[in-house]
Amino acid sequence: MPLGLEVMKETSDTFHAKEWLRRYQRVRAATEAICAPLHKEDYLVQSMPDVSPPKWHLAHVSWFFEAFILKPFHPTYQTLDPSYDYLFNSYYETHGVPFPRSDRGMISRPTVDDVYRYRAHIDQAMQELLEEPPQAHAEEILRRVELGLPHEQQHQELLFMDIKHILAQNPLGPVYRDDLVAAPAHETGELRWHGFPAGVRLMGHDKADKGFAYDNEMGRHRQFVEAFQIADRPVTNGEFLAFMQAGGYDKPDYWLADGWATVKAEAWKSPLYWVERDGVWHHFTLGGLVPVDLNAPVCHVSFYEADAYAQWVGARLPTEAEWETVAGNVPMQGNFFERDHLQPVAAAATKDVPGQMFGDVWEWTGSAYRPYPGFKKLPGSLGEYNGKFMSGQMVLRGGCCATPEDHIRPTYRNFFPPHARWAFSGFRLARHIPTSE
Ligand SMILES: [Fe+2]
Repeated sequence: MPLGLEVMKETSDTFHAKEWLRRYQRVRAATEAICAPLHKEDYLVQSMPDVSPPKWHLAHVSWFFEAFILKPFHPTYQTLDPSYDYLFNSYYETHGVPFPRSDRGMISRPTVDDVYRYRAHIDQAMQELLEEPPQAHAEEILRRVELGLPHEQQHQELLFMDIKHILAQNPLGPVYRDDLVAAPAHETGELRWHGFPAGVRLMGHDKADKGFAYDNEMGRHRQFVEAFQIADRPVTNGEFLAFMQAGGYDKPDYWLADGWATVKAEAWKSPLYWVERDGVWHHFTLGGLVPVDLNAPVCHVSFYEADAYAQWVGARLPTEAEWETVAGNVPMQGNFFERDHLQPVAAAATKDVPGQMFGDVWEWTGSAYRPYPGFKKLPGSLGEYNGKFMSGQMVLRGGCCATPEDHIRPTYRNFFPPHARWAFSGFRLARHIPTSE
């Protein structure tokens, strides 16, 4: 390459690396701020196999930078403790045998202080690397930082989910934070429908689009979507309470077979975290036990509960393609992590376009999590990030009250098994418009 171009490339990479270092520091600081209200005793609890102790999250996101960036590319990197590569590898089997997920609560050592030292060690090395990225690998380093930061943001949301689940198991009902921003008082009006005509839609993230996207949303492709209607807002707590009071959890009529089996096996009678006190429904939140706001979107329901409710009212869940058709034309704003409610809240009714598509609750869709046409996973161990989970899970869209605002996109595909309900998961309704013939 001519010398001039070489200099330009170096300057550009250095500039980008410095910008990425600032972003890196912002994201890392946000993770530690989420853990700041915890007591040391909270850091090690694993309240169910799906929940990871906060200490494990803090270490694992650091391990990600160590395993995939520092070890391969930092010229003088020295690991703090070789055993961390085993303890804090989540599921990257091609990297090495990971420590069993269900036993993460057993890792009492390294201590919380050790883990914070590990984070500082990684941060120091990442700063060195991003201040002077080796030219031969600068592009690949930045590509991996671009994945490592949203990875850490995903764990920020998981931290909120897991902290909530951990504290909810304690009979004293500890409050994570007593200074959360209070929910606005809005009257949610009657549900209204917005119609969309049949047509070929483009969905998925295109390479030409600006910004980062995961491999599972890449590959813009066409999909024919029949005419449909979609609700102007998610289903509310008040509406879901009517389903409960009508015996929704007691009759098999509305449930998928797997869902009904789960209702019986788990003795579900309400969404997760709901408890009745003196005839009033309350739910456990990150701000403690509070009365359920009947106007706010229902949250912590499984796909099975969402589907059963939709059956009960003679509707269905939207498909991914329908959801993305709508979301591509509404402003990407909502009740995200930055609003500091950390709970879905009621919103004022919108007139022209469906509201609350982003933020508040992840919305279950009726679509199974499967690859898009032409799906290509990332090369190497990072190919395990998304692709290997494309079985037995359903897609959720739109982000929630614990999602960082700059983490979400209209094309973003989240996924959970249909029985899961510790995520901030809710749903909205859709229905078919019959063709005239
Ligand atoms: Fe992870």
